[in-house]
Amino acid sequence: MKDLSAIILAAGEGKRMNSKTSKVLHKICGKPLIEWVYDSIQEAGIQDCIMVVGHKADQVKSYMGQKVKFALQEKQLGTGHAVMQAQPMLTGMQGHVIILCGDTPLIKGETIKSALDYHIENDHSATILTTEVDNPTGYGRIIRDVQGNVLKIVEQKDTNQDEQEIKEINSGIYCFKTAHLLNALAKLNNDNSQGEYYLTDTIEIILQNNSKVGAVKIGDPEELQGINNRFQLSEAERVMQQRILHKHMENGVTIISPLNTYIGADVDIGMDTIVYPGCILEGSTKIGENCVVGPNSRIVNSVIENDAEIQNSVVIDSSVGENTHVGPFAYIRPESTIGKNVKIGDFVEVKKSVIGDYTKVSHLTYIGDADVGQNVNMGCGSVIVNYDGQKKHRTTIGDNAFIGCNANLVSPVTVKNNAYVAAGSTITEDVPESSLAIARERQVVKEGWMEKKGRQHK
Ligand code: UD1
Ligand code: CA
Repeated sequence: MKDLSAIILAAGEGKRMNSKTSKVLHKICGKPLIEWVYDSIQEAGIQDCIMVVGHKADQVKSYMGQKVKFALQEKQLGTGHAVMQAQPMLTGMQGHVIILCGDTPLIKGETIKSALDYHIENDHSATILTTEVDNPTGYGRIIRDVQGNVLKIVEQKDTNQDEQEIKEINSGIYCFKTAHLLNALAKLNNDNSQGEYYLTDTIEIILQNNSKVGAVKIGDPEELQGINNRFQLSEAERVMQQRILHKHMENGVTIISPLNTYIGADVDIGMDTIVYPGCILEGSTKIGENCVVGPNSRIVNSVIENDAEIQNSVVIDSSVGENTHVGPFAYIRPESTIGKNVKIGDFVEVKKSVIGDYTKVSHLTYIGDADVGQNVNMGCGSVIVNYDGQKKHRTTIGDNAFIGCNANLVSPVTVKNNAYVAAGSTITEDVPESSLAIARERQVVKEGWMEKKGRQHK
């Protein structure tokens, strides 16, 4: 198959979204509508893509960048007029072009592929993707003759009583022989109830030239659902979410409560990992095998290695090593690297830090801008004092160091290997290897003080 192109129509205003953002840049499962459509044409094996943009064109262009060619439709004079704007890029092409709408993200690559195959095998000049719906109001209707041959598409606003009864609708997705589409576009007029150049009129024009036209009826109308408002956006989100969760379950991931789990489009999860209810896994997150995630954890753009456990915690732009246990109620902030067999316990915050293998940070600790070695023990309530009010500083803790409870390490400072910081110390100077640092007031005991003061226990 040579000369295969796709045109994605995305110039419309999308008024009913009530948004400053272009409709096609609204996201489902973390990915803009337009990118879902683009990805499905790639899956169908079509590399060459023209996007017709108009309203908020700059937003769409800067999002898609170099991946596609753009045709600008300055005034939205109809879907036929939109395709005319792509004409210069198609002239001379001998193959086929598939036309889709930027707001129909649920269409699958395999559906496009099989429609295109059918179109080519039957030597059609045009093939329409259609479906039957219970309520066809608003859609263009497929008009067939008694033998079932497609005759034309009539828009809702141009239908008569009989045509309004027809339940087979135009999805807005078509395959065309490029040359025949270009011929038909040249003959389009806007002589209809909306005064628009309808792409749908090309069907009748092509038939008048004695070329073959056909339709592929899609069993599942869900795939063709367009998005015009935020309600439909949420419906599409639900459908896509279900597809994503099913894919993971097929791959061997246990998702205990699919209705209470959110997984983004680009998340990868290994076999035998269990995802508990309330989890949100987003971005380019990659979770290994045999992990336990959740309940109620949010993991964004992070790598979690095999056998790790993340409970009721947030992990953002970071990595967590094999067999490490995080949470409950820990917060791993961006640019953190947590090693293997580490324990990060409750109410621990880690930011822009490295935590070595076998280290324990069991509770109530802040580690910011620090390099913590292997097999370190960070006592309860210990704090890396990384901010002096103006600048952040880094602290280093060596392997096998022991940081006592409630110690402050005022950055920049270094605690060397095997060193011991006594509980309650405020460390402002480096602690040499294998030594003890105590930096606190000595305890004073005043015997019989209560009696002397004439106080009594209650
Ligand atoms: C269109 C079809 C209708 C079909 C329906 C499926 C026509 C005339 N009608 O109707 O048969 O049932 O889709 O959803 O084609 N667009 C532009 N420039 C324009 C007009 C539209 O780029 O000047 C884009 C829109 O951004 C959108 C797509 O084309 O992505 C469809 O436009 P829309 O106005 O939604 O068409 P419908 O009236 O729904
Ligand atoms: Ca529409």
